Amino acid sequence: MAGGSRAPIVEFLNGEVGEYLRWCTPSVLPGAPRVEDVYGSDVSASLSIRGTLAENSGIFREAHERAARLYGADHTLFSVHGSTGSVYVVMRYLSLTYGTPLVVVARNAHISVLNACEDFGIRYRFIPVGYDPEYELFIPPTPDEVVETLRRYPEANAVLLSNPTYGGLSGRLRETVRAIREFDDEIPVIVDEAWGAHFMFSDRLPETAMEVGADVSIQSTHKQGGSLQQTGMIHWRDGRIDPEVMWEAYSGYTTTSPSYHLLASLDAARARLEERGREEVERVISLAGDLRSRLGEEVPGLGVLDPGEALERWGDRVGGVDLTKVQVALTGFGVTGFRLDLELQERMRVVPDTANYNSLLFVATFQLPGDAPERTARAVASLLSGRELEGEKRLLVPPIGVDPPRMEPYLLRRMPKRMVTQRVPLDAAVGMISAENVVPYPPGIPILMRGHRVGREHVEYLRAVRDSGGVLICRDPGLRELEVLRFP
Ligand SMILES: Cc1ncc(COP(=O)(O)O)c(C=O)c1O
Repeated sequence: MAGGSRAPIVEFLNGEVGEYLRWCTPSVLPGAPRVEDVYGSDVSASLSIRGTLAENSGIFREAHERAARLYGADHTLFSVHGSTGSVYVVMRYLSLTYGTPLVVVARNAHISVLNACEDFGIRYRFIPVGYDPEYELFIPPTPDEVVETLRRYPEANAVLLSNPTYGGLSGRLRETVRAIREFDDEIPVIVDEAWGAHFMFSDRLPETAMEVGADVSIQSTHKQGGSLQQTGMIHWRDGRIDPEVMWEAYSGYTTTSPSYHLLASLDAARARLEERGREEVERVISLAGDLRSRLGEEVPGLGVLDPGEALERWGDRVGGVDLTKVQVALTGFGVTGFRLDLELQERMRVVPDTANYNSLLFVATFQLPGDAPERTARAVASLLSGRELEGEKRLLVPPIGVDPPRMEPYLLRRMPKRMVTQRVPLDAAVGMISAENVVPYPPGIPILMRGHRVGREHVEYLRAVRDSGGVLICRDPGLRELEVLRFP
């Protein structure tokens, strides 16, 4: 057939996808109830006899209430726009409630948090976090560091923590929430819990935000909670959060044409987890444990993060570790994470969740077969064989300053006309104020932010990431030029 009439995405999904061992999101529960005829049953709110999402009525209200009961919340709403959409809803809530609030956010916040702050005119200040360069892991802040930041910014209206971190480290969340309450009992604690949708189904996993008394939890159910890509949930408790305002924030931001199939997949994942969540999560924990020990045995020189050691090493900051994740450091080998990821996909049909310069992250998912750890360890061992480094380890360290922005990002939106931006060659940008965000993706945590000064170290790090195959989200993904502020 002529090339013009092909549907390459359809062909990819119907064919090749099934050949890969996917240690990556979405983690979809095979045994969850399924819609039988996806194309034949696609409907809109015009068919309103069983309720609508726009009114949170009928089957939609029932599905939300069932989810809230399971996840220990007073209310739950479904997102068909991932945690990114949920972050926007919650930020809209803050803006409707406080006008132009100030929010203290952990430095490992996802870019959606900073974008939403900027879009709603919300000022943010960073809570510092730790960092392990070898495994490329953010280490959560201590309870004291969170309270110290609040003390520094007494006008703060809310706290937003990204917990667990992308790498699966959960802070000492219960103590942190308690410490915030002791400091100021009115401040809402919002937890971006995108990576924690499976936590409550095992006592071996960290506690959830709802369990420790936080006010809002944002979860990407598609990541590790069993539903289809793009889906998530917002859970919250009454008290510091006004349900009517949250509903207003939600309905003002959610599409009027939500996919009922995505909503159904959230409902289905909830139903399955309610029935068999413990068994399903236990299985992925054991797949990850199996991969960890096989990699440790079969690939000498490979760094394999041991959850027990992580707890010991960062005990003042870390209260629990996600046992479904396997983080490996490649600093003893002459190959970057970006390169090994490509080779694993192309040559071995194995897909890690995330590649970084020094490391790779594997996420044990519900869809993996039982022999996945054995096949994956074999694949990694064969690709790394003969590439061990003799001398020093290879290590690239990102410049993650924890200083508050030099310039309020929101000022950029309200710039007087005479302050304009310009594109300059990357090296010429050093010392200037960035007018764009530059975000390695994944993990989606910005290195450069609009309104921040560009340092030589930012340029060098970003160039190394680009040259070694990392993906950058910015205006010029080739990173030849950068948009900066031009002052008159
Ligand atoms: C901590 C965190 N928050 C939010 C998001 C955005 O999630 P989603 O892809 O569901 O929009 C991500 C995505 O990786 C994330 O890691």
